[in-house]
Amino acid sequence: MASIPLRLAGHAYDVLIGPGVRTSLAGIVRRLGAERAVVVSARPQEWVPDTGVETLLLPARDGEQDKTFATVEALCGAFVRFGLTRSDVVVSCGGGTTTDVVGLAAALYHRGVPVVHLPTSLLAQVDASVGGKTAVNLPQGKNLVGAYWQPSAVLCDTDYLSTLPPRELLNGYGEIARCHFIGAPDLRGLPLVDQIAAGVRLKARVVEADERDTGLRHVLNYGHTLGHALEKATDYALRHGEAVAIGTVFAGRLAGALGRIDAARVAEHLDVVRSYGLPTAVPAETAPQALIELMRHDKKAFGKRAPGSLAFALDGPHGAELVDDVPQEVVARVLGGMPRAPLADLVDTAAVPVGAAPS
Ligand SMILES: NC(=O)c1ccc[n+]([C@@H]2O[C@H](COP(=O)([O-])OP(=O)(O)OC[C@H]3O[C@@H](n4cnc5c(N)ncnc54)[C@H](O)[C@@H]3O)[C@@H](O)[C@H]2O)c1
Ligand SMILES: [Zn+2]
Repeated sequence: MASIPLRLAGHAYDVLIGPGVRTSLAGIVRRLGAERAVVVSARPQEWVPDTGVETLLLPARDGEQDKTFATVEALCGAFVRFGLTRSDVVVSCGGGTTTDVVGLAAALYHRGVPVVHLPTSLLAQVDASVGGKTAVNLPQGKNLVGAYWQPSAVLCDTDYLSTLPPRELLNGYGEIARCHFIGAPDLRGLPLVDQIAAGVRLKARVVEADERDTGLRHVLNYGHTLGHALEKATDYALRHGEAVAIGTVFAGRLAGALGRIDAARVAEHLDVVRSYGLPTAVPAETAPQALIELMRHDKKAFGKRAPGSLAFALDGPHGAELVDDVPQEVVARVLGGMPRAPLADLVDTAAVPVGAAPS
């Protein structure tokens, strides 16, 4: 079991990672002094651990369709009817969509009630449940409304991953692969618990330095600028982690084209992404110019220094950093030079990495 502390101004909590860590919930609820708990779970009841206090179990569904204000309102209504107070606790159990929407409900209810996350997908364990960002979608777009609300604990129980479909496991690996280029050690071939722990440790360190996303936290966006555009251009046929994986290969080539890294380091991007069984080519169905347009409309990719330029988190002599003046012509040239493959081949050939089965 790994225990990773997250120390922020005025708030500290631990992220526990390993098989069976969900059973720590009752002890955490006791330490919080809560008398009641609401557990919002997208997993079957047998996966919900005991809280040790009077509990309301609310079933939920993972997925973007329920990551809405309507869900937040319904949850808060149920909290009121149950008599939940600010000194009680809310628990989320599910994928990143569930931890995000339940986190926002906890942030808003009575102006903030403690929340404990039990992330059940690899992506939620390594990324979504850690760091305190919560959000819901609007019809106009994803994650447009949210709040910073740090959890009181995060329990990444790797037993949950035993039922995760292979493609969802791969989705989480997309986030793990990019850690290689933003300060994590080489995680290839390590046991899954260690890979998750390294990803969480990296995120914890970045969030501690930049809780509100004003600087360093941008490096977590490694591979995401093209990744977000690919998700949209394929109408979300590519999972987030798959799109980020392709975006990571691209980020390596772009850094190479800008003279920031040498050819060997560019090749390392391809090697690392491929070693996790993730896709590395741009879907043939997407036009480079359309991807550039999508990137130009991404609020995090808008180059601030030169007109028409784009911003990317890129590797370089001093490690990864935000480069906010990448000329569009260079982006177009590197994108045009990326290998391309039909979308169906990219996601079909995506295999689960060998030697990294969930424990
Ligand atoms: N707050 C943040 O900092 C942050 C960071 C990254 C991502 N996110 C958000 O996270 C969401 C994506 O998370 P996700 O990939 O977990 O999506 P998700 O919640 O939709 O879950 C993905 C799929 O896995 C299934 N699933 C989850 N756990 C399972 C299990 N143990 N067994 C079987 N099936 C299981 C779900 O039912 C779903 O079909 C997005 O909405 C994204 O915006 C937030
Ligand atoms: Zn991501």
